Amino acid sequence: MNKDTIIQSIEYIKTITDIVPEVGIILGSGLGELAEELRQKIIIKYSDVPNLPTSTVKGHAGQFVIGELAGKKVIMMQGRFHYYEGNSMEALSLPVYIMKYLGVKDLIVTNAAGGVNTSFIPGDLMIIKDHINFALNNPLIGRNEEGVGPRFPDMCCAYDKGLINIAKNVSNTLNIGVKEGVYLMMTGPTYETPAEIRMTRILGGDAVGMSTVPEVIAASHCNLKVLGISCITNMAAGILDKPLNHAEVVETSNKVKDKFKNFIINIVKKI
Ligand code: HPA
Repeated sequence: MNKDTIIQSIEYIKTITDIVPEVGIILGSGLGELAEELRQKIIIKYSDVPNLPTSTVKGHAGQFVIGELAGKKVIMMQGRFHYYEGNSMEALSLPVYIMKYLGVKDLIVTNAAGGVNTSFIPGDLMIIKDHINFALNNPLIGRNEEGVGPRFPDMCCAYDKGLINIAKNVSNTLNIGVKEGVYLMMTGPTYETPAEIRMTRILGGDAVGMSTVPEVIAASHCNLKVLGISCITNMAAGILDKPLNHAEVVETSNKVKDKFKNFIINIVKKI
């Protein structure tokens, strides 16, 4: 990622607000309502920020929302960019660098995902303990600027152990039975075939989705601490005898939004 590109984007944001956010939150499909909980909200449309692509997915608003949550200064992405929209991986990782350069130290990345682990049920939340990059591309391919991050970033601790512990403690306190597992990214936009889901299980994936991995790679690159949370919106293809659709994904994330909001707010409090 080119440093001048990041600087140009944050300079625009700094003309709107001088708030320095500490925590960044990327809100996945159907989970955007958390942004309503921010106090003293400032909204910045992606389309106004230099260098960002525009978001096209239904249920994704397409804006940064900056404000206060649980006493912390927070920047949220209400809507994210996807690889399947035709964005390069590099382009869709830019918001992560923007949040880093605005001051963010901890990044919470959320998504809607299909449950591959048969002990999961729709409506479960899953703490991501690791991922498999089955999109087989990487946002860091290309020229590397050492000032932004190293050429060969370590991915052993991509999901921060301290943040995972906070999330587990919050789950215990709220008694909401949050699961833990490995997230595997496919490119989409097709949902997977049953054979691909059997493969995912053999490879060690517990949940499958079409996002998150490029952002987490970028976050590791620029040394952000990451917590990943998947909302299991449906059982993945072939597990149940029924077809998948986006309406079901949005419907389940809507059903769990209160549990999800409560979980994230209490995590932010403890960060
Ligand atoms: N597969 C891929 N992405 C998803 C799914 C799924 O089953 N559910 C929500 N996002």
